[in-house]
Amino acid sequence: MPDLLKKTSPEPLQVYSDTDVTEIVENASLFLDQAVQYQELMMMYDCAIKEVRTKLEVLNSEFSVRYQRNPIEFISSRIKKPVSIVRKMRQRGLPLTFSSLEQNLNDVAGIRVICSFIDDIYAVADMLIRQDDVTLLEKKDYIKSPKENGYRSLHLIVEIPVFFSDHKRDMKVEVQIRTIAMDFWASLEHQLKYKKSIEDEEEIIKELRECADTIAATDARMLSIRNRIHTSPNREAAKEDDPIIRYEKIQIPFGH
Ligand code: GTP
Ligand code: MG
Repeated sequence: MPDLLKKTSPEPLQVYSDTDVTEIVENASLFLDQAVQYQELMMMYDCAIKEVRTKLEVLNSEFSVRYQRNPIEFISSRIKKPVSIVRKMRQRGLPLTFSSLEQNLNDVAGIRVICSFIDDIYAVADMLIRQDDVTLLEKKDYIKSPKENGYRSLHLIVEIPVFFSDHKRDMKVEVQIRTIAMDFWASLEHQLKYKKSIEDEEEIIKELRECADTIAATDARMLSIRNRIHTSPNREAAKEDDPIIRYEKIQIPFGH
């Protein structure tokens, strides 16, 4: 008889007592209940990200029509991974509950805004904070006061109301705003954290700090060059008086 058709001896059936079954069912409902609660909370954070992202996109569109340039180059966002949430709560000695998570972690919903110029960082932050449904909970200016390693960025923790079918919930979002160059630096520096042992670590840290300073100086020079370009008298001033030529420059960001 071919092997496939041979009957294998059946596994012995596991016998559960009534108490076992009750316990299994209770555990399963507890597990599923927690899983659903977690999913719901993360959905709310995701909605908060959408709200703040839209606000930023609106500001960018308005700015591009008004001033013919985009202060924001691009926006990225993420929801903190479950394992990172648990690690952070453990490190801080927080109870692993949903209410403690919501109360104590400010960066479950995170948005990163990348600008071309340093003044755009502050313009975007101010325009966002000024909106009357946005509450600023915390502001850390690592551009004015860079971290010891050279890290530069503007960090905001904001709270915004999100409207669901039957209730409104205030949700926290961490917004990191930095230039393209600062972002380039932070991505490379971040990789240091994932390496257990690195040869010449001291040397790398020193070089990174030097690069951060060079980047800061270059960011400042780029801003100064942009300002000089924009304040210098226009060679084509006569043509600029022609409304058609003037308005031709406006790019309306319809469609994506
Ligand atoms: P965290 O526990 O890291 O969230 O610190 P915190 O609550 O004091 O907040 P902080 O505003 O200092 O940092 C928040 C986030 O900014 C971090 O999770 C990183 O994404 C980023 N960040 C802060 N410092 C550095 C740094 O030195 N290098 C890099 N690459 N990123 C940093
Ligand atoms: Mg954080």
